[in-house]
Amino acid sequence: MPWARRAVVSTASDVDMGVDLGGVRLRNPIVTASGCFASGREMARFFDLSRLGAVVAKSVTLEPRNGLPPPRMAETAGGMLNAIGLQNPGVDAWLAKDLPWLAAQGVPVIASIAGRSVDEYRQLAERVRGNPDIAALEVNISCPNVEDRGIVFACRTEPTAAAIAAVTAIVDVPVFAKLTPDVTDIAAIASAAVDAGATGLSLINTLLGMAIDVETRRPKLAAATGGLSGPAIKPVAIRAVHQVRSALGPVPMIGIGGVRTPEDVIEFVLAGATAVAVGTATFANPLAAPEIVDGVAAWLHQHGERDIGGLRGTLVTGERTVGR
Ligand SMILES: Cc1cc2nc3c(=O)[nH]c(=O)nc-3n(C[C@H](O)[C@H](O)[C@H](O)COP(=O)(O)O)c2cc1C
Repeated sequence: MPWARRAVVSTASDVDMGVDLGGVRLRNPIVTASGCFASGREMARFFDLSRLGAVVAKSVTLEPRNGLPPPRMAETAGGMLNAIGLQNPGVDAWLAKDLPWLAAQGVPVIASIAGRSVDEYRQLAERVRGNPDIAALEVNISCPNVEDRGIVFACRTEPTAAAIAAVTAIVDVPVFAKLTPDVTDIAAIASAAVDAGATGLSLINTLLGMAIDVETRRPKLAAATGGLSGPAIKPVAIRAVHQVRSALGPVPMIGIGGVRTPEDVIEFVLAGATAVAVGTATFANPLAAPEIVDGVAAWLHQHGERDIGGLRGTLVTGERTVGR
């Protein structure tokens, strides 16, 4: 029966799922990935949003954006390509209409801002400053910098530092820099963000990809290239979290990329993530995030772990014992 969803019986009420994400207390480590949860209203039809650790909102820009022309999505093996183009109502409309509703759902809201220049990041920070409904701010710097030949901010250390410093000088909530994996040395970019005042990192945004329809010989996306997400990118995300943890120590991190199962969450936590986001999985199953919350609690219970925080960064890297 397709409508008879399997009930998740919690056997794990003795497990402490709470985490401190750079000063923000979350009831569990599961958050939504920016842009994969619409405004939140659509998802509230499926489950009580307060079951999540936090909602990370869709990135907002200074002005409303209609996004890119269709087709804007294409399925790939183990993943999905999208070129939505940051469609959003603009920061002012989001602050007036979506944010108050979201905050009233009893879940911490992490706002996300995206700019095209350092000055736009500064203006966006001024708009959100002091808003009591915003628990933390994610700064999406995986965006083209119009003042620098369209090169993505997070592809180089100086523009990363400039965008993050512009924001951290203004806001007084924790700031998470959201980085692109399309770089040679993600630890160097993460370090530049933290030195510029970021509380932590959100790792990773989509990878730039492309797919071609062999019958029409056209790119499957109207924009030709787009962001690759889903299970195919999880190893890249785990690697990024691991490299940043190894280079910077226990900096607060939101692990993002291809999360589908409770074990995926545990994997990110072992690599060093404090919170873990569910993105593309929500498009296939709107209940993915709350099911993963229950699944992580059950996993901890089954493994005799009392506290999710106790697992963080406990990756074993020593020599393997041969023959076992
Ligand atoms: C349709 C779609 C829209 C997205 N929009 C945003 C966005 O507005 N801001 C942002 O920082 N990331 C955005 N992302 C990236 C996701 O937040 C996430 O980093 C990425 O999809 C990897 O996670 P996943 O594999 O779980 O989807 C978007 C991803 C998708 C698939």
